Amino acid sequence: MFTPYELKDTIIPNRIVMPPMCQYTATDDGYATDWHLVHYGARAVGKVGLIFLEATAVEKRGRLSNNCLGIWDDNHIQGLKEIVDFCKAHGSIMGIQIAHGGRKSYGDELVAPSAIPFPGELTPKELSIEEIAQVVANWQEGARRSLEAGFDILQIHAAHGYLLHEFLSPLSNERTDKYGGSFENRLRLLLEVVEAVQEVWPKTKPLSVRLSAVDYLDGGLTIEDTVKISKALKDVGVDLIDISTGGLISARIEIGPGYQVPFAEIVKKEADIPTIAVGLITQPELVQEIIFNERADFVALGRELLRNPFWVLQANHDKELWPWQYERAILK
Ligand SMILES: Cc1cc2nc3c(=O)[nH]c(=O)nc-3n(C[C@H](O)[C@H](O)[C@H](O)COP(=O)(O)O)c2cc1C
Repeated sequence: MFTPYELKDTIIPNRIVMPPMCQYTATDDGYATDWHLVHYGARAVGKVGLIFLEATAVEKRGRLSNNCLGIWDDNHIQGLKEIVDFCKAHGSIMGIQIAHGGRKSYGDELVAPSAIPFPGELTPKELSIEEIAQVVANWQEGARRSLEAGFDILQIHAAHGYLLHEFLSPLSNERTDKYGGSFENRLRLLLEVVEAVQEVWPKTKPLSVRLSAVDYLDGGLTIEDTVKISKALKDVGVDLIDISTGGLISARIEIGPGYQVPFAEIVKKEADIPTIAVGLITQPELVQEIIFNERADFVALGRELLRNPFWVLQANHDKELWPWQYERAILK
């Protein structure tokens, strides 16, 4: 887990990833605050190999809360750049997850592939073909701004029941035009977003997509679909698939340590593409097992890194990794 990994022009110093985690602490206009600098900065000081900034909205109406980060305006770039600069100076590779919440967004201007609400929530408006083109353009602008802010890796959020996942899943997409119906049609928007992003995001830099491997409901996405989606993404030049699950509907599922790893493993083997495994992973032994047995290329620790920004430093026996300022605290 401490072996560096080369992805396009980027060398990720170890296999530990901080997955995107909303902090609900941006200003009402989506600007980063001191909290973000200190929060992400602490994990960079803690030598996390790859840090993803939380879901950052490509449109104001696509925010997940009133205080989510935004990247729909050029003025958002500067605050994000300060975080990136600090974290990169401490050796972390910096990623950003750009996102659109679709029917699970905050506010009353919800848009989605079809006018089907998330259970118990407001009914979204079905996007017209013209509006879809504008949404794609907004993703592209978000990617351009991410590059300007200095991010090394871009992640497109297509998981957890948000807009792009809603197009992929037959449970939320009942369109009868070229964006709905067949598997190819449901995949169309994600591929259009990838293509639009690639026009501004250099081919030399890694591009990642986060997917929910399964919907946990009959008629929804299955792991077989996810392998097919991942193959299609690989074919168009996506470098890294981040494998989560669920979020499209409310489902009760059994969870335990590493419960989503088998999905990352299947995608890695069958679509032959690098993956990130995530979900209730906290112990160095489990991380080591996943990496050593090549079940995934990276392991993301979410809540564990919220609890302990210095997880990597503590799991690694190389005392040199610790910041010199903390030298007197290092246990010999
Ligand atoms: C506070 C919090 C915020 C989250 N926000 C996001 C997000 O912005 N984007 C995303 O894809 N997943 C988000 N997640 C999911 C995490 O990235 C991760 O997949 C999940 O927490 C499971 O990993 P863990 O068991 O190691 O925490 C969030 C999770 C938490 C706890």
